[in-house]
Amino acid sequence: MSLLPPALLLPQQTLSRPGARHELPRLAAGFGPCGLLACGASFERSGGLAELLGGLPGGLTVQVWRHGGGEPTVTAVDQMRAEIRRLRPDWVAAVGGGSVLDLAKAAAGLAEAPETAAYYQTHNAAIPPATLPFIAAPTTAGTGSEATVVAVLTDPARILKQSLRHPSFMPRLVLLDPDLLAGCPPATVAAAGLDAFVQAFESYTSRFATPLTRSLSELALTRIAAALGPLFRGDAAAASDMLEGSYLAGLALSHARLGVVHGLAHPLGARFGVAHGLACALCLPAALAFNREHIRADLDALRARHGLDVEDAVAGWLAEMRPVNPFRGQPLSDRTAIVAETLASGSTGANPRPVSADDVNRLLDALFTE
Ligand SMILES: [Fe+2]
Repeated sequence: MSLLPPALLLPQQTLSRPGARHELPRLAAGFGPCGLLACGASFERSGGLAELLGGLPGGLTVQVWRHGGGEPTVTAVDQMRAEIRRLRPDWVAAVGGGSVLDLAKAAAGLAEAPETAAYYQTHNAAIPPATLPFIAAPTTAGTGSEATVVAVLTDPARILKQSLRHPSFMPRLVLLDPDLLAGCPPATVAAAGLDAFVQAFESYTSRFATPLTRSLSELALTRIAAALGPLFRGDAAAASDMLEGSYLAGLALSHARLGVVHGLAHPLGARFGVAHGLACALCLPAALAFNREHIRADLDALRARHGLDVEDAVAGWLAEMRPVNPFRGQPLSDRTAIVAETLASGSTGANPRPVSADDVNRLLDALFTE
């Protein structure tokens, strides 16, 4: 078996240290003098946006694209693409959580593409290679979007949540600045952090994992397992480890894919508007039990090498963080469609144990009734 995935795609440059965000203007200027910066409301409220715009070197012009909140839709991507075509920036940057990063990544990636984002999402049509440099600076430690070629988009009109991917979507520059996590609410730390853990674990046990991605996943698992609890309790010193862990998990999943938790989380997220990380966290215990006998060697290896008992750790986090389950008691009117979409998902296809319709129904029962 080759140590490497079939095609290894990495960000061109990654800075990981406190204050790394201050390097954004200088390094972005290397791509050209005009930029478009996407951010969310919290970055502006925290004063981060004003600080960044106040520190621009002479000759650099930066326009701002404000994300209205929520998970990114195909419509929001098309609106930002129209702005990119109007402004013709030399680069696009995103400072924000996974939603802001995915929005800007897809908008930059599809800037010159002729069809709508919904078209590429539906028709599996070839995406023309992107040429616009994309810069990512995450303000949550979760999706790992800054390290992937993937953008997950929703289309409320078609009740669809599905990823777009292209090798050219990989960010050219990544800034991992733990100071950007300051002020992140505990519920967001929990949902994002549990998503990062699920991504590290599902990429570790994926059928498409390679020795390199396994190493990346294992590094991510141990970092996240050690840092998630402290960060949730307000220990800012854990932010750097969480950011690096979610980044490494992103690199791993971008090459090795995921598992049934993500296969299920997308159709549920499209219908119930539940934050992605929360949906993943709530799906995890039943999925771990479902996969247990097929991943016994992995669970044993993590316990032996790192003292990490995955099932105990997950149970401990859920007991401490107490995420409210918004699915419990909800009617499941289109269960058949949810099951079909879960089975068709590339994530489900990577699950270490083959997944049947009955299996998905049992996972849904655990989520909606227990
Ligand atoms: Fe995820």
